[in-house]
Amino acid sequence: LSSKQETNAKLQMICQLLHDEFEHFNWVGFYFKNGDKDELKLGPYVGAATDHTIIPYGKGVCGQVAVSNETMLVNDVHEESNYLACSIETKAEIVVPIFKNGVNIGQIDIDSHYKDSITAEDKALLEDLMTKVAEIL
Ligand code: SME
Repeated sequence: LSSKQETNAKLQMICQLLHDEFEHFNWVGFYFKNGDKDELKLGPYVGAATDHTIIPYGKGVCGQVAVSNETMLVNDVHEESNYLACSIETKAEIVVPIFKNGVNIGQIDIDSHYKDSITAEDKALLEDLMTKVAEIL
């Protein structure tokens, strides 16, 4: 395996673990900056296939986090006007940026079928996990 394939295999395992261990994490995936373009490209994920394989910076929750460099927790997606719907089942969503050497290089995106289900503890855990994920990137 190339190092990129090995990294993707690890990211895929992280998605699977989060998806399996947290009942309210129904879609778990990574997006990364697509080369030198101001857009995100879908990486490893677990859950239903999504049409949003490329997301321009600024668009949707993911695109906003690419620009703001801050975690975005949306516990009722119907309240968020700048939102890209992947599934009608999704009610809540969290996007946590990943920083490598201080640069926002991507993010983890988690969708939940349950409104108001994503907690401050989830946010803290995911932010901590993303600092560790950055070390393998
Ligand atoms: N809902 C996201 C798009 C990605 S899908 O949820 C997998 C957004 O608003 O950016």
